[in-house]
Amino acid sequence: KKYTEEELYRPNFHFTPKKGWMNDPNGMFYYNGYYHLFYQYYPDSNVWGPMHWGHAISTDLITWTEKPIALYPDEKGYIFSGSAVVDIKNTSGFGSLENPPIIAMFTYHDMKKEKAGESNYQSQGIAYSLDEGLTWTKYEANPIIKNPNLKDFRDPKITWDAIHQQWLVVLAAGDKTMFYRSKNLKNWELLSDFGKDIGAHGGVWECPDFFPMLVEGTDDYKWVMLLSINPGGPNGGSATQYFVGDFDGKTFTIDDTFSKDVKQQNGLWIDYGRDNYAGVTWSNISEVDGRKLFIGWMSNWQYAQKVPTETWRSSMTIPRELVLVNDGGHYIVSSKPVKELQNYIAKTIKKESLKIDKETVITDQSLVDLSKVEIRFTLKDLKKDVYTFSFSNKSTNTIQFGINKKDNYFFIDRTKSGNTAFSDLFAHTISKAPFTKDFNTMEVRIIVDKTSIEIFYNNGKTVMTEIFFPDKPMEYFSVSKANTEYTIENLIINQLNF
Ligand code: FRU
Repeated sequence: KKYTEEELYRPNFHFTPKKGWMNDPNGMFYYNGYYHLFYQYYPDSNVWGPMHWGHAISTDLITWTEKPIALYPDEKGYIFSGSAVVDIKNTSGFGSLENPPIIAMFTYHDMKKEKAGESNYQSQGIAYSLDEGLTWTKYEANPIIKNPNLKDFRDPKITWDAIHQQWLVVLAAGDKTMFYRSKNLKNWELLSDFGKDIGAHGGVWECPDFFPMLVEGTDDYKWVMLLSINPGGPNGGSATQYFVGDFDGKTFTIDDTFSKDVKQQNGLWIDYGRDNYAGVTWSNISEVDGRKLFIGWMSNWQYAQKVPTETWRSSMTIPRELVLVNDGGHYIVSSKPVKELQNYIAKTIKKESLKIDKETVITDQSLVDLSKVEIRFTLKDLKKDVYTFSFSNKSTNTIQFGINKKDNYFFIDRTKSGNTAFSDLFAHTISKAPFTKDFNTMEVRIIVDKTSIEIFYNNGKTVMTEIFFPDKPMEYFSVSKANTEYTIENLIINQLNF
C-alpha cells in the first residue's frame, strides 16, 4: 500500500496546524474552561517566515480546535515568541473587573532595522483581548520594553508573582536572562539579570520561563527557570535546560547543590531527546487544580524546515505536567503526560510478568494500532548491560530505545527509522541521556504517535522525545536479543482512540 503524506505523517493526537509552518508554543493561558495555545506561525509557507501568532483552544489539552490567527506582523515588525496572562484585577486598565483583559506580551522583530545593520531590532510589545483571546488590539504606545542595545532581546514570559505581589517578566538576552517587574503590565522596571556563569552556553538563550513550584510532598517551594538554548543541546541543536533556586523579588539565586549538579552533568535538561524545544508553561492554571502544565515544540532547528511533510510543518509535544522532586537532596524537574490522555484509552492489554529470553515481539499491529498507544512497564533487578526495545515495521524501519547500564545512559536510536535523508543531522547518531546515580529498577512510560516517541523514564525524571518518518506505520513492539533471561513486569498497553 502506498500512503499519502497526510496518512503517514500527520500525528493522530499531537497538535499540528492544518497548513503552514509552526514553531514555538506562545501565550498559553487557561480561562473559562478553555486551554489556549498560541504558536509561532507562518500560514503562507512550510518554512519559517514573517511570524504571526496562530491560535488553538481545547477543553482537555488533547483535542484542539484551530481558531483564526491571533496576531499579524505589522509595520513595527514580525511577532516573535511571548506569553499571555489573564489580568484578573484589571491592573492594566484595558478591561474591567467583570471582563478582565487577557494581556499578551511578544517580541517585535524589526526586519528593516536588522537589514539596515542596526543591532537593536528586538523589543517587547503588548496586545490585549476582551473576548478570551479571539481578537487582539495592539497597544498604541508599543514597544513597552525598549531594546537596551542588545542583538538578542526576546521571548518575554509574564508571571504573576503572588509572593511579592508583582508582575514579573523574564526574557532572553543573548547569553543571559533579564528580569523586569510591573504593577500594571505597561511600565516595566529592570530588576536583575541571571545566567552568565551557569548552565550550558553552547548557543543563544531563548524562551525562558520562571515560576515558583511546590517541592513534591512538602509545603516548601522553589523558583524554577526553564531556558531553551540553540544550538548546544545535549544531543545537538535545540534543547531546554532548567535551573532551581530562590527568588527574593529581585534576584534569582541558584541552590548550591543544584549548581554543582549542573556543572557535573553539563546542564540539567527538561528533555534529553532532540525534539522538545522552546517549551513553556500555561498561565492562570491555579484556579483549576494548581498543576504546572507545559508544552514544547516537537522539533529541532537543525532540521525542522526540512522534515518530509509538505502541507504543514511541526507538531507540539504531548502537554505535560511538571513536578519538582527532591531526589535525596537533588532537585529534579520531572514531567509526565497530562492525565487527560487517560480519557482516550479504548482498550488495555495487561501482563503482570513477561519472561524474555530471546528476541520477542511483545505486541503487533493485529492487536494494537501502534500509531496511537501508551505503553508502561517496569524492569526490576537490572543485571544486563543493555536493555533494548523497539518499534518496527515490515519495511525494516525501526526506532530503538532503552538503557545502557554499563555506560550509564538511556538512549533513542532513530538511525534506521525510515526517511532520514532530508538532513545529515537527523539520524547520524543515537541520542543519550546520562544518569549519574545508579538504580536497580527502571520504570518506563512511552507515548507513541505516527511520527513521534516520548519516553518518560523513572517517573519522568529523565525524558526523551524524538520524531521519525517511517515508510509505513510501525507494526511491532519488540524486545531485542537477550543473552540473559529477564522479566518485564506490570506491562500495560493502552490503545488510545481519537
Ligand atoms: C525560538 C525562537 C525564539 C523566537 C522565535 C522566532 O525557537 O528563535 O527565540 O522568538 O523562535 O520564531
